[in-house]
Amino acid sequence: MAVNSVNMEMARAVITAAEEEHSPIIINIGVGQMANLAHPTEMVPMIKEMAERATVPVALNLDHGQKFEDEVSAIQWGFSSVMIDASSYPYEENVKRTATIAALAHQKGICVEGELGHVEQAVQYVKDTGVDALAVAIGTAHGNYPKGYVPVLDFDRLAELKAALKMPLVLHGGSGSGEENIRKAVAGGINKINVCTDAFHAAEDAMKAAWEENPSLNYMQIMMVAEQAIKKFVKDYIRVIGSNNQYVYGETVT
Ligand code: 13P
Repeated sequence: MAVNSVNMEMARAVITAAEEEHSPIIINIGVGQMANLAHPTEMVPMIKEMAERATVPVALNLDHGQKFEDEVSAIQWGFSSVMIDASSYPYEENVKRTATIAALAHQKGICVEGELGHVEQAVQYVKDTGVDALAVAIGTAHGNYPKGYVPVLDFDRLAELKAALKMPLVLHGGSGSGEENIRKAVAGGINKINVCTDAFHAAEDAMKAAWEENPSLNYMQIMMVAEQAIKKFVKDYIRVIGSNNQYVYGETVT
């Protein structure tokens, strides 16, 4: 599970949740998030410190990097993996941009996630770019769905992709996708699920409810409410995807 984390409390909630569930975890930071709140000059050293002390493996991933400079900066800052999203470009341009970043990142031992506009070209794309993981479009979308709507995922396409690629596959837009879909996606070969919106909602809902109950809660108290809510959300999600109890300190459970 990769959870977008935009400040210390959120990163700590995500990592603590993973530790309590004995699950590996990924912290995602998006380029837009970096520009606003999650400044990498502060976030990266802090998360690396947290990761070093954590009792589970913690990776730090650049989410939806697009510009060459963003990718190079993330590699220099010490992200453990970078996503290059050049999926809006024509195939050749996507390959060119992604392959360049993959070559740079691999020199530093950093993993690369790519994304394709049309998954039909997936096998060739992986060959042409050298990406380590591929974000696949099987029916989820980023952000909120209309109230009550649960996306219909293309599990046949997922099965075809997994069989053809035999590599780590990534599902973006993990929020609001429904537990059954998420479980089936994992069973069908998804190895990383990106979640952002629902983690924010968990914090927002808890903060609203806490303030309604006690309007005099101060900044520190309300931040603690948010942190606990995110932690609970991540623990629950980890159990849904079944990555709990996959890592006991010092050994991987097989
Ligand atoms: P959601 O906000 O829909 O969970 O998507 C997150 C994501 O995919 C980040 O890359």
